[in-house]
Amino acid sequence: MKRNNKMQTTTFIDNFITPRLTRSPDGRLLFDGFDCEQLARQYGTPLYLMSEDTVRANCRRHLNALRRYLGADAVAAYAGKALSCRQIYRIIADEGMYADAVSSGELYTAYASGFDMSHIIFHGNNKTPADIAYAQKLGVGLIVADSSYEVAMISRSAASAGIVQPILLRLTPGIDAHTHQKISTGQADSKFGIPIDRAPEAVAHALSMPGVRLDGIHCHIGSQISDPKPFCDALEILLDALSGLQSDTGFTARIINLGGGFGVRYVDSDTAANPDTIFSALGSMLDDFCRTRRYPHPAVITEPGRSIVADAGITLYTVGNIKQSGAGTTYVSVDGGMADNPRYALYCAPYTALAAVESPGGSATISHTSAPLSDEDYLPTEFNLPDTAFNDCAIVGRCCESGDILVPHAHLPRVCPGDIIAVLNTGAYNYSMASNYNRLPRPPIVMLHNGKAYVAVRRETPEDVAALDC
Ligand code: LLP
Repeated sequence: MKRNNKMQTTTFIDNFITPRLTRSPDGRLLFDGFDCEQLARQYGTPLYLMSEDTVRANCRRHLNALRRYLGADAVAAYAGKALSCRQIYRIIADEGMYADAVSSGELYTAYASGFDMSHIIFHGNNKTPADIAYAQKLGVGLIVADSSYEVAMISRSAASAGIVQPILLRLTPGIDAHTHQKISTGQADSKFGIPIDRAPEAVAHALSMPGVRLDGIHCHIGSQISDPKPFCDALEILLDALSGLQSDTGFTARIINLGGGFGVRYVDSDTAANPDTIFSALGSMLDDFCRTRRYPHPAVITEPGRSIVADAGITLYTVGNIKQSGAGTTYVSVDGGMADNPRYALYCAPYTALAAVESPGGSATISHTSAPLSDEDYLPTEFNLPDTAFNDCAIVGRCCESGDILVPHAHLPRVCPGDIIAVLNTGAYNYSMASNYNRLPRPPIVMLHNGKAYVAVRRETPEDVAALDC
């Protein structure tokens, strides 16, 4: 596929919600210079597209700010739960990032990509004995223990493997990160981590266990947070705990892991987290603490997931059935839905959608008399809806339930069956949360880099979906 050389003459759209997304003067949506409709036709839909350069730029921005304000020895461990496939581990390793993993599947994917497993931080609130043994067999660098029970399990497993396992203890600071309840983790009533006031006994216990080396503490307060304040509140509580731990147990942390959670923009009204603002605030708190308490400056780790991949991805869909409900809602059905993006169904998460082709005036697609835009032959819609019906329409999926909504209030030009639409910023927690609900095969991930498109994950087939059935 050739790069569209009209790129210089295009304008960036939507205030950079998605960097590298442009609209050509003749109304065609370009992602990293590639014509979206042509990519849809070549690879089929639904289609996850990822801009490799955006992933790389996000890694650099995070790492540069982190090291500038929190120390040259600071490490960013990409949270693979946002998007895990072999190619993403190759890219982030190339950018000098570590990774966090939470399951045998994520561990194996990183391992199979050739990732240095000593750069893996293994997480989870309920690691099984088999998970722990597998992580140790693969040689992960750090395991974050979620409880004293887990410390004991890691200790036993390390003893039988004849190793000493470096660990961190996950502490729960008891603060509200003011994000969606289902993605908050730092509040007092959380299934994650050790309540901060029980840290002294947990640290004393970990220090007494053979086969483990307690290197420091970890905290992750939640996800999609853009305000620096909750991060600062969490650090203040952790630093207070560290000074108490030093006097009570003699423990000095070599590592402080602040987790991830840096917010991105899905819609115009969102504000993205600014790594410079957040890390400069955290950096001065940490420096002050170390200076006044004469505490050796710990190495800082962060675990960004969403902020590395979200705005690097868009999903393309083909429009099918269009109808108006009895209540007057315009439903635009697409050939994907909650199986490839369950985030609206789960969190009412907002997304921005655009038509892949729009007239320069922005009100209608250019022509529907041209050849069908996808492989299938779409018929004209049975409804003769006015253009205004698409000003506030619901983009819904093809799964058999009413909650299968992608964008409840989209603003589209008039679209017809066969048209391509793009949902923006789907790079995080879409592919990684995709399912085969209704036995839908999962879409492929096509990466764009240096004027080339390449398949990073191939499209599933109906045979793949049934491949494990006995
Ligand atoms: N570290 C830990 C320990 C975590 O639990 C998480 C996310 C991260 C790092 C990365 O957070 P991020 O930078 O991506 O916000 N499925 C939800 C998000 C769940 C996040 C779970 N933990 C969603 O689609 O919004």
